[in-house]
Amino acid sequence: MRETTARGLEAARERTSRLTDFDDHELTTQHSALMSPLVWDLAHIGQQEDLWLLRGGNAAAQGLLSAKVESLYDAFEHPRARRVALPLLSPTEARGFIAEVRGRVLDGLEHADEQGLFPYAMVEQHEQQHVETMLATHQLRDGSPILGHGAPLPPGRPVPEGSVLVPAGPATLGVDGDQEPWSLDNERPAHTVDLPAFRIGRVPVTNAQWQEFVAAGGYDEQRWWSPRGWAHRLEAGLERPLFWAADGSRRRFGLVEDIAPDEPVQHVCFFEAEAYAAWAGARLPTEQEWEKACAWDPERGRRRRWPWGDTEWTPALANLGGDALRPAPVGAYPAGASAYGVEQMIGDVWEWTSSGFEPWPGFTPMLYADYSAPFFGGDYRVLRGGSWAVGGAAVRPSFRNWDLPVRRQIFSGVRLAWDVV
Ligand SMILES: [Fe+2]
Repeated sequence: MRETTARGLEAARERTSRLTDFDDHELTTQHSALMSPLVWDLAHIGQQEDLWLLRGGNAAAQGLLSAKVESLYDAFEHPRARRVALPLLSPTEARGFIAEVRGRVLDGLEHADEQGLFPYAMVEQHEQQHVETMLATHQLRDGSPILGHGAPLPPGRPVPEGSVLVPAGPATLGVDGDQEPWSLDNERPAHTVDLPAFRIGRVPVTNAQWQEFVAAGGYDEQRWWSPRGWAHRLEAGLERPLFWAADGSRRRFGLVEDIAPDEPVQHVCFFEAEAYAAWAGARLPTEQEWEKACAWDPERGRRRRWPWGDTEWTPALANLGGDALRPAPVGAYPAGASAYGVEQMIGDVWEWTSSGFEPWPGFTPMLYADYSAPFFGGDYRVLRGGSWAVGGAAVRPSFRNWDLPVRRQIFSGVRLAWDVV
């Protein structure tokens, strides 16, 4: 278990290096007001690792940085748009700092109790989450490509039209620590719900389907939008997904290319997702529905660890890990289908649900007590399933992500659901 933990930390670091191994100018530029300069993420990764793994979460204890420098990396204290103006560590200093922390962490891990590995997994997941954030920064960056085209993906295939029935009945949502030791606080505890029957999209909504919505005037007709959504659509001037151009091209990590018709749409906000669903005669799934369709095995009457079963993720089952730099076409992962036959729930795009972010009954905060609790009940919507940019160790069917309903620089897409009447 210790070796697996060390390998997980190293895999996260390797991804971090690939996104930050550029000249100082790339790292210190603020590419978008929505994001930090990359050098902030880089040192923040080390600051959190120092705090949780070298000091057991005791912020008052002396870390490798002075208290004054350390405070620059407090995400609650400094909004992203202002981080570029802070006296941050230089890229060279940041690289030296995170390497020093990691060396000490790996030394400590050799003597760590097998029962005490959760904080290591928590820190690994934190770094993987920042890798995804840094990919969003790269996507917002202007200029010629520096990440390449992305690794090849399996081809799509024609999938049976439409939706899958999930009959009424119970399902266990959430997980306990003994089943999923690396699950974070908001995924716990396991609890049973009884849901009415519903239908859910077999695959996510594609770019071609979204182009029909645009062509049909979906962005011009108020009737498809919620009052808040319509106000935002007017104020922000939304006309199509972020990074799409009016001429049918899109910008992806500095490349300008045709919009791939069979890929799941990404870079849409919650309000757009809601409007699309209304136009399509559907709605967004609740997160309870989403998780049941993903993980519940009705024949056995138990959860699966993954939609496809209990075996670990491989690249043949879902598009995770970030190398592709894009979602896979729909139909690319028949072997990754859930017990109900729903495909591509894990990886490709985060899927907006209609649910606000609330604790599961019996919620208890983890060591990093401010990870989830400060956000419950806020103006957030839950997203599920992870995107192509997510590390395999940083997502599970129980994993819950949340963001503001206007956000679309994230790798977010849509899966539809329908009531059964
Ligand atoms: Fe963070």
